[in-house]
Amino acid sequence: MRQGSAVIDSSGLGFEFQDQPAMMGGFEWVEDSQFTEDETWEMPWGEQRKVRNHYNGAKVVLRESGEAARTLILHFRAYEDGVAFRYEFPEQAGIDSLIIMEEHSEFQLTADHEAFWIPGDWDIYEQLYQTTRVSEIDAIAMRDHPNLAATYIPENAVNTPVTMRSDEGLHLSFHEANLTDYAGMTLKVDPENLKLSSVLVGSDRLGYKVKRQLPFETPWRSIQIADRAGDLIESRLIENLNEPNVLGDVDWFSPMKYVGIWWEMHLGVSTWDLEATQDMNTFATLGKDQTSTKHGANTENTKRYIDFAAENGFGGVLVEGWNTGWNYWIGFEDREGVFDFVTPYADYDIEEINRYAAEKGVEMIMHHETSAAPRTYEQQLDAAYQLMQKHGMHSVKTGYVGKIIPKGEYHHGQWMVNHYRKVLETAAKYEVAINAHEPIKGTGLRRTYPNAISREGLRGQEFNAWATDGGNPPEHIPIVAFTRMLSGPIDFTPGVFEMSLASKPDNQINTTLAQQLGMYVVIYSPIQMACDLPENYEGQPAFQFIKDVGVDWEQSKVLDGEVGDYVVIAREERETGNWFLGAVNAENPREITVDFSFLPEGTEFEAGIYSDAEDAHYRDNPTAIDIRTETVNSGTKMTFQLAAGGGLAISMKK
Ligand code: NOJ
Ligand code: CA
Repeated sequence: MRQGSAVIDSSGLGFEFQDQPAMMGGFEWVEDSQFTEDETWEMPWGEQRKVRNHYNGAKVVLRESGEAARTLILHFRAYEDGVAFRYEFPEQAGIDSLIIMEEHSEFQLTADHEAFWIPGDWDIYEQLYQTTRVSEIDAIAMRDHPNLAATYIPENAVNTPVTMRSDEGLHLSFHEANLTDYAGMTLKVDPENLKLSSVLVGSDRLGYKVKRQLPFETPWRSIQIADRAGDLIESRLIENLNEPNVLGDVDWFSPMKYVGIWWEMHLGVSTWDLEATQDMNTFATLGKDQTSTKHGANTENTKRYIDFAAENGFGGVLVEGWNTGWNYWIGFEDREGVFDFVTPYADYDIEEINRYAAEKGVEMIMHHETSAAPRTYEQQLDAAYQLMQKHGMHSVKTGYVGKIIPKGEYHHGQWMVNHYRKVLETAAKYEVAINAHEPIKGTGLRRTYPNAISREGLRGQEFNAWATDGGNPPEHIPIVAFTRMLSGPIDFTPGVFEMSLASKPDNQINTTLAQQLGMYVVIYSPIQMACDLPENYEGQPAFQFIKDVGVDWEQSKVLDGEVGDYVVIAREERETGNWFLGAVNAENPREITVDFSFLPEGTEFEAGIYSDAEDAHYRDNPTAIDIRTETVNSGTKMTFQLAAGGGLAISMKK
């Protein structure tokens, strides 16, 4: 209930097990207790420094009547910005472990809300968001997308976070928090009865969903509830449902902007493998005996990026394709043992590159593409992170492209959830931070393990280079901000300036340049890439915004926005007290008025304003941008026109 009306109606809870009767009812209420928590904790980096964790909690102990008489405990929390519950299986006589065949947590909706969803794919979250009524959700229609190297959608289900808007304007977002030693949860849709039911990601290899020793707790099942769409983004519910930092001081990592040898491979200008055998459009490997002329990760090219980073104040340089194995990374059934995380290609002088980077005050960012062979990666984890430690590298981008080996596992099942955790924990021992691509979704664990700095887990910028479905539409980020972003930082890799993608005649970027800039503020991540080729930033006045924009925030305010339409966010940079504003707009041009009352009273700021030119349009005139400087203070109000697929970026320096 919320303000007198039901948000979720009576809904079932329960479990089915292997070798145990199901737990679907027949409980007696043994006892309950209620309490209030109010604490404030600090994020080492984040959307804001201080987070208030304030809720009413309840614990309910249930016992089955009859012979089995098993005990189950339910935990509930009610926050200003949402509710959550989890199950606890306490230690009890006669059961030392449980094999869960399905969890039956239900959410009975009270109306046919508008929903912003991706299908309940067990292997990937890189699907386009769909906007339909709940009754019209058809995840099955999204099977077998030609651009996904692994995809499996067994049910008419959605992945979380899934966001909804009622006709009365109430916003709901369903997700889970603290996904630990358990399978990821999808929500099956009953379109007639408007009911969502948990379907855990399974394992064909093991034949069950979850296996656990008692005692254990499930992840939290959460619902964010907000009148204003922007309040979903300001909510820290998911982090609050996690345990405090267990790593202690993590000052070996600092938020940073980075560049890298990356976009050039997606554009097909260079290749990951030394043999230069790949076709980025089909992901096919053409044959392994070609002579390389196109290997991106060579020493000379890397130094060019290091120079560019140093000249423009970027903290890091990512290099993909530096290690052996890339000629077999995709399209091969058996990828076990193919990748090596310590052996550079012959034309990549890792010693010299790290020496050179250090001399220039830049840190190299490691890349570990596992090609979804996690066992090969696990065998090499220590050696791989030791190599990083030796070179003073404190962050790694990991990747899991393809179907998981061992066969029958899925990216989001319990076995992989545990793999991703093992990577995080092992990395922490070596002072290494993880930016996972093809990851398990974020569930707020960054509070506990701050070295979980960022992740992909959505259709990133890369799709614009090669997707056969037209790339990310203009509404993409205006939906992502209210869905995927509720689960945590996003490595989207904004910053394309050469929007026509000259080397890819069939593809283009469906945003204006001002939107590419606006993303640096709208999308939160403690690492933000400037993904375009260095030569495409040369002589571009708009590049100044990327050089200036912060990556670590004292506070964040969502000024305005509607799911799928637009969003306007202002963030105050830590340490400097400078402010940055970003806006992204979907396909309908719109006028917005920015009220600068978020600025501290009595201080003048020099505002660098980057707005869509009058004739800007994402399709035929994306780079038309107006850049000007003005003085603003807390009393200023200004009106801006956002183009179709447009945006806005403002830097405000004291
Ligand atoms: C997929 C990642 O999302 C992308 O960023 C990366 O370049 C490729 N895998 C290769 O690892
Ligand atoms: Ca990806």
